[in-house]
Amino acid sequence: MRRIKTFSAMVLIGTLLLIFFYSSLHLETSYSHKAGSEDFLKHPSFSSKRESVTKPPPDFHNVTVSAGLRQSIPQNRAYWNRLLYSALRRLDKGEDLFRDDSSWSRCRETNQELLQTNIHDITSYPVLFKDFLQGMDCRSPPVLINQSNNCISDEGKGDNQIFLLFAIKSTPGNFERRQAVRETWGREEVYKTGLRVRTVFFLGSSSLDDPDLGPLLSFEAQSFGDLLQWDFHESLLNLTLKMNMVLQWTLLNCPHVSFVFSGDDDVFVNTPALISYLQSLEPSKASRLYVGHVISTANPLRDPKSKYYIPLSFYDGPYPAYAGGGGFIISGALLRPLYYVSRVIPFFPIDDVYTGMCAKALNVAPEAHAGFQTFDVKEEDRENLCVHKDLILIHQRSPQQMKKLWKGIHSPFLTC
Ligand SMILES: *[C@@H]1O[C@H](CO)[C@@H](O)[C@H](O)[C@H]1NC(C)=O
Ligand SMILES: *[C@@H]1O[C@H](CO)[C@@H](O)[C@H](O)[C@H]1NC(C)=O
Repeated sequence: MRRIKTFSAMVLIGTLLLIFFYSSLHLETSYSHKAGSEDFLKHPSFSSKRESVTKPPPDFHNVTVSAGLRQSIPQNRAYWNRLLYSALRRLDKGEDLFRDDSSWSRCRETNQELLQTNIHDITSYPVLFKDFLQGMDCRSPPVLINQSNNCISDEGKGDNQIFLLFAIKSTPGNFERRQAVRETWGREEVYKTGLRVRTVFFLGSSSLDDPDLGPLLSFEAQSFGDLLQWDFHESLLNLTLKMNMVLQWTLLNCPHVSFVFSGDDDVFVNTPALISYLQSLEPSKASRLYVGHVISTANPLRDPKSKYYIPLSFYDGPYPAYAGGGGFIISGALLRPLYYVSRVIPFFPIDDVYTGMCAKALNVAPEAHAGFQTFDVKEEDRENLCVHKDLILIHQRSPQQMKKLWKGIHSPFLTC
């Protein structure tokens, strides 16, 4: 009898506690509905449903966004600018900005109305741009091809550590380009001073209208062990997501790599020259390196026909200085801070501009290096081996040219 009484008392207390908890939750939500004009900008996934979070949240206590970024990006009515400042206000208040990104299947569902409410002229946006906006918060695509990764197993063994990781953005159909990279500058090799280089290709998925390359890719992945593929469609405006996967994958799988190259599969890289340059750096510089062909004073293109069109009501402001996405290098030590700060800064549809924004948020300025020619060299120098021998990166070369150049710059007969 006594037991039953104690039991019902406990049930009663439990229920009261639940009611109290529930109503305080409700109060909090109704309070925050009145909280501020930026509040309606919150994507539903911001108010994270924690129970479905599978990964541990990143440690946001260490994330700060520099005054430099805040000064360079105006606070105005454009949608992206509003999203940024809304996230910054929440960051500064110490709120947990960790977004529930475990729900790839649901992240695009809800925000049609949100977009229409917030962007007055969204109907005039190009179809692909609207599509980008809808998936702006989708950050964890399912894995299609994974590899057991030899960065990890080799790590911790001192001399075997990977010095340079080539993280190459490729697309499913580019078999020939990948093979040319494997046979030339991306060859896994131990360079003179014992420095190791490794190459991985980052792929999205083909669209439904494309022929099914799945079986060929599986074969390629098994043969070479250097493919990674996620289930998001290949497109220009999805490159920011791809770059984010580069950061995320490398951070998890090669956390101690010294340098990471991010670039396209059709550039030519003079790997020995790149390694000598990286080795020549002072330690203080080597740990905060972001180097490439720097575009320092760019502005959004407002011509709707341009490939890189950015509507004024989406983003209003200049671009920070950034390294051209054809190929640049970042220090391995920057992976973690870059990835964490990218969780605060909303995705921007141009991947290299986005990387520039994230770097600026960390007070890391891109360093211009004349050896990175992402817009190619003069017409008359395109076959000139001596010119190529002195450079680090050149955009863009066919697989055949790549092989010829690689052989040429290594020829014992070359006297320059
Ligand atoms: C991919 O493979 C690596 C190494 O085998 C493993 O640690 C990782 O958890 C895998 N990732 C996914 C998403 O399956
Ligand atoms: C990006 O990938 C997602 C997932 O496959 C797709 O739904 C979306 O259309 C792609 N975005 C663009 C702009 O192509």
